[in-house]
Amino acid sequence: MLDKDLVSYIEHFIFPKYDSLYAHGLLHIKYVINHSFIIARDYDVNLNMVYCIACYHDLGLLSVDMNREDHAVESGKILANDYHLKKFFDAKQIEIMRQAVEDHSGSLNRRPRNIYGEIVSDADRDVDIYTLAKRQLPTSIKYYPELVTFEEHFERCYQYILNRNKYKFNLWTKNLDILKMMDRFRCDFLDKDFAREVYKDEWNYIEKEGLKEKFISFYED
Ligand SMILES: [Fe+2]
Ligand SMILES: [Fe+2]
Repeated sequence: MLDKDLVSYIEHFIFPKYDSLYAHGLLHIKYVINHSFIIARDYDVNLNMVYCIACYHDLGLLSVDMNREDHAVESGKILANDYHLKKFFDAKQIEIMRQAVEDHSGSLNRRPRNIYGEIVSDADRDVDIYTLAKRQLPTSIKYYPELVTFEEHFERCYQYILNRNKYKFNLWTKNLDILKMMDRFRCDFLDKDFAREVYKDEWNYIEKEGLKEKFISFYED
């Protein structure tokens, strides 16, 4: 059972900070919270800590003058320096959460230092094609303005995932539910016609809602 005051603090004061982000906005944070809870079922862990880590893990993206690569360390600092959290956690728990947030990136070339880091790192992976399309198309529209048509954006997105082998990755926790989702995701992604349909639906949604301009000039990422 989560601490209601903690949830209320985070929903009122932390979630709005993500409003200027899209691919890393609340859509993503809520996904990471859900997947963290799925994985956490396998372990004897403190769920308030699991929740808090998921909520803070990408806040560093909002810091100015920050190299994107360093966002995890920056997020860890933000968590550790948030004095409100002292009401809910002791110093040792805050340090564990800081390390977990610091270790969340898939590009980390070592094992996370604690189980909380393994949970958030695995929960951070997009293991369904609908979520991937929702996050990848806006990023493509924002950063590749020279591409115009759906087909151009889809092809760039598709090759990026394919070339970086981002449709297959190792999980630290080997959680069975997430592994199942990952298998499904691999099949969906490698069926290019199906992937195109999913991306096309998302593209149509973006056009219908008139979101393109917002991706370019409002959302930071
Ligand atoms: Fe991140
Ligand atoms: Fe993330």
